[in-house]
Amino acid sequence: MNNTEQTLSIIKPDAVERNLENEIKQMFKDKGFQIIREKKIQIEKSEAESFYKVHETKPFYNDLCAYLSSGPIVVMVLEKENAVVGNRELMGATNPKDALDGTIRKKYGISIDKNSVHGSDSPENAKIEINFFFKD
Ligand code: CMP
Repeated sequence: MNNTEQTLSIIKPDAVERNLENEIKQMFKDKGFQIIREKKIQIEKSEAESFYKVHETKPFYNDLCAYLSSGPIVVMVLEKENAVVGNRELMGATNPKDALDGTIRKKYGISIDKNSVHGSDSPENAKIEINFFFKD
C-alpha cells in the first residue's frame, strides 16, 4: 500500500558551517527523497527551546538549545514513501560513533551534539515539527 509521508529534516549548524548543505541534500535525493520545502534560517534560543520541548527534562537540554540557535540551519520538508523511518535510517544513530557506514551522521557527524542533522522520530511528530517551521 502506498504510504507517502513527509518528515522534517534540519541540517544543523555544524554542517552548514562546513558547507555540507549540498552534499547532504544530494544524499537525500539519491535515496529518493523529494525536498518539498526548504529555508535557511537562524533561530532564537527560545525557539529552539520550544522545538526541543520534549527534551526539557534532559541534562543536555540547555546545551542542545544553545547549539541549535548558534548559527544558520537549513530546515526542509522531505517527502517519500515511509519518509520518517527512511530518513532516520539515512541519518544513522544519534551518536555518530555508533552510526553505520553510508549514513549522514557516520560521514559528517562530529559528536552527539554536533551530529549534523535532525529528523522527526514519528509521523505524529513530523506533522508537529513541519508545522513548527512551515506554518502556512
Ligand atoms: P536530535 O535528533 O536533533 O534530537 C535531540 C538531540 O539532542 C540529538 O539529536 C543530539 O544531538 C542531542 N543530544 C545530546 N546529548 C544527547 C544524549 N545523551 N542522548 C540523546 N541526544 C542527545
